[in-house]
Amino acid sequence: MNSSGYTTSVWMDVSPSSEFPALQKNIDCDVCIIGAGIAGLTTAYQLAQEGKSVVVIDKNPLVSQGETSRSTAQLTYFTDYPYSQLQRFHGKDIRLIRESHQYGMDTIEQIAREHGIDCDFRRVPVFLFAPRDKDVKTIDQEQEILQGMGVEVLRHHRIPVAGLPDYPCMEVQELAQIHVLKYMYGLAEAVKGLGVQIYCSTRAVSIDEREDDVLVQTENGQSIRCTDLVTATNSPISETLGVHLKQAAFRTYVVGLKVEKGALPYALFWDTLDPYHYVRLVEMPDHDILIAGGEDHHTGRNEDGGETEERFRCLTEWTRKTFPQTGELLYEWSGQVMESVDGIGYNGRHADDKHVYIITGDTGSGTTNATLGARIVTDQIMGRDNPWSELYRPSRVTLRAADQLIKEGSLAFWQFKDYVTPGEADATANIPAGAGAVIREGLQKVAVYKDENGQVHRMSPVCTHVGCIVHWNEVERSWDCPCHGSRFDSYGKVMNGPAISDLEKLETKQEKNAAGSR
Ligand code: FES
Repeated sequence: MNSSGYTTSVWMDVSPSSEFPALQKNIDCDVCIIGAGIAGLTTAYQLAQEGKSVVVIDKNPLVSQGETSRSTAQLTYFTDYPYSQLQRFHGKDIRLIRESHQYGMDTIEQIAREHGIDCDFRRVPVFLFAPRDKDVKTIDQEQEILQGMGVEVLRHHRIPVAGLPDYPCMEVQELAQIHVLKYMYGLAEAVKGLGVQIYCSTRAVSIDEREDDVLVQTENGQSIRCTDLVTATNSPISETLGVHLKQAAFRTYVVGLKVEKGALPYALFWDTLDPYHYVRLVEMPDHDILIAGGEDHHTGRNEDGGETEERFRCLTEWTRKTFPQTGELLYEWSGQVMESVDGIGYNGRHADDKHVYIITGDTGSGTTNATLGARIVTDQIMGRDNPWSELYRPSRVTLRAADQLIKEGSLAFWQFKDYVTPGEADATANIPAGAGAVIREGLQKVAVYKDENGQVHRMSPVCTHVGCIVHWNEVERSWDCPCHGSRFDSYGKVMNGPAISDLEKLETKQEKNAAGSR
């Protein structure tokens, strides 16, 4: 099991060239960054270039083992929201959205070039196609808005690739793709070369902002005293609610199928369905792999009743039908996306804190949001103006997104109903080996995991963030919280924030009996 789940993504056969030790002593620095994903390492890179002493800590044993390793690494200036909706939320500031994500793309290319990071960076076009007649107007609207921002848009009466369906389509050029872990491991080396201290297997368990500094305590008892703190942990662990009421966690699914070299062009392909499908090719020495994502749903919830195996089956079926060039199914994995209510990230100084900064709310464009977020945070720490600070301000409330806000807020509230519903299984005996379920025992609920040897592990199903009831994720073998997306491994250890603490362990019947007979 990788630190972010049980399945394996197409990137994970590449290993980092350096392993980083766990923190063993108390230290002081200018800036402490929690999270060694793209956001954390890019912020470290930029601050170190400004002469700051920087420490990066990550709870995982290796860098980039969080959601970074599960992305499809498409670099674009599009988010999961169409520009027509972004325009409704942000008006003329959509130009800044495009400009800032363009910065993200260009910066990744520049860092890769400067440091000789061989990460398969490639400029590619995107084809946005409408499988249903009624969605053609979505493409019309996107085209008009993009052209209004000076983007060249090509229209095709069908996807201009031999063998693909004759769906109406628009094309935008000069987007990009990378091998995300090759990039991340190269970036970690560049960051190390700038003198940044990176510590893995080092989990932050508390953050205390004081008058002049911030104190971070780690699970192993060390402390880091810093002037500024950046939480770059996919979902911020630096606060209880706040931004968590303005973004929702979604699970998204990806399949990878073998394709003969040359059978399809290197390009991004998206459709206009909801949830939409997103597709790209990955270069391998002897063949290519087409990876297709979609089938999204709220983390810890199953609103449409779809079983997760069924989601992979549907996705594979859609992929084979849309891309008949695809062959053997090689990969199935899932990942987590934080969807903000107004379609863009929350990046910058955190609401009331003078010295705490966050980068989150990727909304389907995590790689570029992380990179532009790093720029905003670096500029703020250095006391400089940044043209995108106001747009991405974490404390903003976008009134035109109020309907979304109410929907996500009520979702969290509604989840407290799980305290009174029946369990997911009748009894521990009904849980197969390698699986888990929440069962009801009288007035209480218990999360039960039965390992491959049949040994039972019991824990409280109450999420340690603010107390919703977790659900079993059969694909990634994790406990997922439906309220704000915290995730815990089979044994209850935190994988994803905002929770900081593990699920509380409960005794098994045998342990209780043994304790009673002592
Ligand atoms: Fe907020 Fe679980 S993530 S209650």
